[in-house]
This record gives sequence, structure tokens and C-alpha cells, in this order.
Amino acid sequence: MEIVYNALVVLHLLGMAGIVSGVVARLVAPESPSAKIMLWGAGAQVVTGVALVGIASAGLVDNEVDNTKIAVKLVVAMAVLVLAHVLWRRPESGRGLFYSLAGLTLANVLIAVFW
Ligand code: HEM
Repeated sequence: MEIVYNALVVLHLLGMAGIVSGVVARLVAPESPSAKIMLWGAGAQVVTGVALVGIASAGLVDNEVDNTKIAVKLVVAMAVLVLAHVLWRRPESGRGLFYSLAGLTLANVLIAVFW
């Protein structure tokens, strides 16, 4: 199961890269399909994150699960997902939503590493 867990960690990191590339795409090319890229990345984060927690909680790998940290990460990731969805459906929506998405993504990276 270790190999499956590690493969999911790789997908989790690629999902983060997806969100970040969507953010960068919007900054350098506002007309690009950046919201779709962010939406796919945010979706990947929730799916792979929940799968990682499921495997670790089931005791199939040797990793400890901090439920408070995971709950906070899940709430932040859901907010990122909703914001990406709004930006996708309403490309004309203000910069505030976009910068909130970028900030919340950074917050989840900081939580993942420093908590
Ligand atoms: C925007 C959303 C998210 C971002 C940017 C993000 C980012 C990251 C990063 C950078 C790591 C690697 C940290 C390290 O190895 O030190 C990580 C690990 C992890 N994340 Fe997330 N994450 C997100 C959402 C989630 C969600 C929703 C969950 C679960 C519900 C989750 C569960 C985990 C778990 C269990 C690990 C540990 C993997 C390991 O064993 O190394 N993440 N996350």
C-alpha cells in the first residue's frame, strides 16, 4: 500500500502545481483558460487528500493523521474549489476572488508544511 500512498502524494503535489499554474496563467495571460486549470487542480487536491487520509487512518501505512490539521486543510481546500468554480463560471468576477484563491492555496501549503 506504501506505493499507492506515495503515488497519491505525487498526484497531490501535481494538483498543487495545477492550481499554481492556473494562477500564473491568469496573471500573464488573463484570456487563457486559467480558471479551468485551477478547478481541475483544486478538485485533484480534495480527491487525493481525502484518499491519503483514508489510507493513513485505516492504518495501511505508517503515517500519523492529525485530524485537526486535516479538517482545516479540507475547509480551506473546499473554499479554493468553490472560488475556482465561481471564477470558471463567471470569468468577469473581480480580482478579489482570484487573490483569495491564491492566498488560500498558499495558506494550505504553509499548513501542510509547518503545522
Ligand atoms: C489547496 C489544497 C491543498 C494544498 C495546496 C495542499 C498541499 C500539500 C502539500 C504541499 C503537501 C506536502 C507536505 C509535505 O510533504 O511536507 C501536502 C501533504 C498532504 N496533504 Fe495536502 N494540500 C491541499 C489539500 C489537502 C486536503 C483537502 C487534504 C485532506 C482532506 C490533504 C491531505 C494531505 C495529507 C494527508 C498530506 C500528507 C502526505 C504525506 O504523507 O506526506 N491536503 N499537501
